[in-house]
Amino acid sequence: MTEQDIRKGLVGVVADVTAISKVNPETNSLLYRGYPVQELAATQPVDAVAHLLWHGELPTGDQLAEQRRRARPHRALPPELREAIDRMPVDAHPMDEVRTAVSVLGALDTAGAASVLEAVGTPERNRERSLRLFAVLPAVVAYGQRRRRGLEIIEPRDDLDDAANFLWMTFGEEPDPVVVDAFNRSLILYAEHSFNASTFTARVIASTLSDLYSAVVGAIGALKGPLHGGANEAVMHVFDEIGDAATVEAWLDRALAEKRKIMGFGHRVYKRGDSRVPTMKAALDALVAHYDRPDVAELYDALEREFTGRKGIYPNLDYPSGPAYNLMGFDTVTFTPLFVAARVVGWTAHIMEQYAANALIRPLSAYDGPAERHVDGYVADE
Ligand code: ACO
Repeated sequence: MTEQDIRKGLVGVVADVTAISKVNPETNSLLYRGYPVQELAATQPVDAVAHLLWHGELPTGDQLAEQRRRARPHRALPPELREAIDRMPVDAHPMDEVRTAVSVLGALDTAGAASVLEAVGTPERNRERSLRLFAVLPAVVAYGQRRRRGLEIIEPRDDLDDAANFLWMTFGEEPDPVVVDAFNRSLILYAEHSFNASTFTARVIASTLSDLYSAVVGAIGALKGPLHGGANEAVMHVFDEIGDAATVEAWLDRALAEKRKIMGFGHRVYKRGDSRVPTMKAALDALVAHYDRPDVAELYDALEREFTGRKGIYPNLDYPSGPAYNLMGFDTVTFTPLFVAARVVGWTAHIMEQYAANALIRPLSAYDGPAERHVDGYVADE
């Protein structure tokens, strides 16, 4: 095997086919089951997009009503999960809280617990598990933020759609439609993105015929890193560090001299701009106007102008999402768990696709450790 055969980071490797989404870096486009994501974000509630990603088609009115009827009872935290969360340190990182919550939900779902041979279960059961995870994760994230702030849990409201209910459970106030719309768009944009690191992790785990919860737990671990989903949190730390549009240039001089990665910029697949950014930037602009915070837009524009101008590296989705979530009132450490609550749709769609046409994912490695050697005193058995 030569150096050329090794695709470090799996750069450019096509690992499998998928019918769930198509990322086209040439045209800066992203299609969910054939639909441009911008069109979905502008017209659909996030649960209709979840139906599309899981089942291949947007739901009819009846199908959406039926999906909601099945999901609504699972929007509240099961008591055992509430208890498990309450036992965690209040200053645990919320990504650890969410990861553990999914693990607890897996242990509570005892169908298939008798043997590893039953871990995968039927397609119907996995569709139900996916819907339940999508329904309950907002309660985990919302309660996490309230618990950290010493506030009481807020129960879900059946009369609110998913984005509005998520905001209600977090803040306990009737959310403004401008905020609901921006939040709904962000959840749709975050819902799916082909073979990114966390989705691929989920597929690797599913390919061993492990269960859906285990695959989601692994995906959450992969998403936490700042080179992937953790970047939306990291972007906010950058905004806080810079503070003001006037100091962007000096801050960037220093950051680049220190060879720092500028969070929220760059992408493994998109090299000329992330297809999701214009839609999320428009949502951020609406929030900036709503909260009357032109300073946020000025800092956003100044850093983009300076960094992209100097390096030719464009913002990714996490760049507008970070300040948007901050304006909505979410704690910075909650941003990546918001990403989890949305991406769980894509992960579960991919896990089910993997089960449906499985091949164990097991690449090779080139060895460059010591040549064969022997333990002193070892004598081979006759
Ligand atoms: N800041 C500074 N330099 C950068 C950045 C950045 N954000 N992104 C890329 N570069 C530089 C690299 O240092 C490298 O320079 P070099 O050739 O001189 O060594 C060059 O651009 C090529 O970048 P790679 O890191 O090789 O590109 P790769 O495809 O491996 O990385 C990644 C993509 C990890 C996303 C990278 O751009 C990055 O670290 N960005 C910051 C973290 C981030 O925002 N992640 C979110 C990803 S999107 C998402 O998960 C929703």
